Amino acid sequence: MKRLRVNGFELAYRDEHSGEESGAPIVFLHAFPLNQSMWDDQVKALRDRHRVITFDWRGFGGSALGSESTTIDRFADDLAGLLNQLGIERAIVCGLSMGGYAAFAFYRKYAEKVSAIILADTRAKADSDEGKKARYDLAELVRKSGPSALVEMMIPRLLGATTLHSNRQIAERIRKMIESNAAEGIAQASLAMSARRDSTDLLERIDCPSLVVVGAEDKLIPQSEAKEMSGMIRNAEFEVISGAGHLANIEQSDAFNFVITKFITAL
Ligand code: MLT
Repeated sequence: MKRLRVNGFELAYRDEHSGEESGAPIVFLHAFPLNQSMWDDQVKALRDRHRVITFDWRGFGGSALGSESTTIDRFADDLAGLLNQLGIERAIVCGLSMGGYAAFAFYRKYAEKVSAIILADTRAKADSDEGKKARYDLAELVRKSGPSALVEMMIPRLLGATTLHSNRQIAERIRKMIESNAAEGIAQASLAMSARRDSTDLLERIDCPSLVVVGAEDKLIPQSEAKEMSGMIRNAEFEVISGAGHLANIEQSDAFNFVITKFITAL
């Protein structure tokens, strides 16, 4: 894992490439409350043909918490700072769930740096009042009882029925990711998501190639909502990953890699 200083804190990242890659750089934005290792299967699948960047958001994995509190807009600025230091002018941006919220914030501010966008298991809408309250409660719980207090609650929400019934190894991988994070990083990100702006107005302004992906068994983002969102982005492609829940890239990594590879090789 490499580290660099961006916006006043140490950010942990990977910059993987074979040296012979010909495709555009691609950067992956991780979900809540996980870390960049959620993209391991995508890194392996793509690094021979692309420069592949993954990193931990501030307060997650190997990245320090910033001195200013976490916001989704600060995530976008951190991504811009990272790409800038790596000398990458434009990249394909792929965000899953919270990573998608950050992808919207990044597009809003830095559209010229986005060559294509992949929005996986995410939504443009802001939280409802009830959703915001659940974020405050989660922040309070994790500050009081630590990340392991979230595991039992989150795993059944994050994983689809197929994975829950047939692949305990994935549940174990998710547990480790959650428990490896600092409580305060998770708490601040939960509050940041509650305060994020609604990005519905942005959808019709996205004019780069776009792909919306959703797991058929996603309990947090219904397939119908993902489809509706894709319909609001000009010429967006839409793919459903069967046998996957919210973490489609982990639960059905081959199918996920297939649809994103098809999309990016046609660019
Ligand atoms: C995520 O996977 O990033 C979270 O479930 C997002 C959310 O809670 O809205």
